[in-house]
Amino acid sequence: MAALSPDGILLTGRVAVVTGAARGIGLAIAEAFAEFGAHVATCDRDPQADTTADLAMTMDVRDPVAVDVFARAVEERWGKVDILVNNAGGTFHAAFADTSVRGERTLVEENFTQVTGMIRRLLPLMAKGGSIVNVTSSEAHQAAPGFAIYAAMKAAVESLTRSLALELAPRGIRVNAIAPDALPTEGELGLRADDYEDYEPVRLPPLGHLGDPVDAAAAAVFLAGDLAGFITGTTLHVDGGIHGAGGWRRTP
Ligand SMILES: NC(=O)c1ccc[n+]([C@@H]2O[C@H](COP(=O)([O-])OP(=O)(O)OC[C@H]3O[C@@H](n4cnc5c(N)ncnc54)[C@H](O)[C@@H]3O)[C@@H](O)[C@H]2O)c1
Repeated sequence: MAALSPDGILLTGRVAVVTGAARGIGLAIAEAFAEFGAHVATCDRDPQADTTADLAMTMDVRDPVAVDVFARAVEERWGKVDILVNNAGGTFHAAFADTSVRGERTLVEENFTQVTGMIRRLLPLMAKGGSIVNVTSSEAHQAAPGFAIYAAMKAAVESLTRSLALELAPRGIRVNAIAPDALPTEGELGLRADDYEDYEPVRLPPLGHLGDPVDAAAAAVFLAGDLAGFITGTTLHVDGGIHGAGGWRRTP
């Protein structure tokens, strides 16, 4: 039996790419990776004022030309990518019947094709021991009225995660997902402005409190590193128990 070492959690010398890292979950993941010893490259369409990343680019992950420039910068600096976290994403609230074709296309690009685009571009820089972590949503696993296209695209990324895990297993590259919920961030709070008034204290996860972006960062550190070396094709739900409870929330 292989010995388990506390050093297994460290990411020393690994090159980690995190998308959507100006704030929220992406920022927490980028900071945690740096804390655990990785070289960190980040991108976001907003300026990254608080970043601790070694390389931070302002760009839209939906733009393949920008993705190529970003990938070249990472390659020039480190020559490889060990960890890729596809975190950027977002949505707006609208009934399906009120969502235009243009709106739908935006959601598909924002939550699905930017993920395939980033993986396609960075995969040639990844080798045995590499780890891809896709940030999906608990809504990938349950009905989400008002967020139908977003939920479908997150479900698509979850499916992609499992298929790529199999395709990339012979190369020693693991592919997993984190499905967050109830982690208050600017994106999450803005989206739920109406019902967040009631969210605390009326609708809480089974654990009885909201989480923190750092909870997703902890999951990302684990999935990125050697302690998760035999874990691929799976989803870690970081949601205070919402998924396990079938979407049920605690009412005090
Ligand atoms: N917070 C939660 O509880 C929760 C729940 C479900 C899913 N998620 C998912 O977690 C991820 C992070 O969400 P968050 O809550 O931190 O949101 P957030 O809106 O606070 O942060 C998202 C960051 O990604 C950036 N971004 C978005 N689209 C981009 C693009 N096309 N190009 C470049 N940058 C882009 C934004 O500028 C922002 O800095 C998202 O994929 C979201 O769908 C979060």
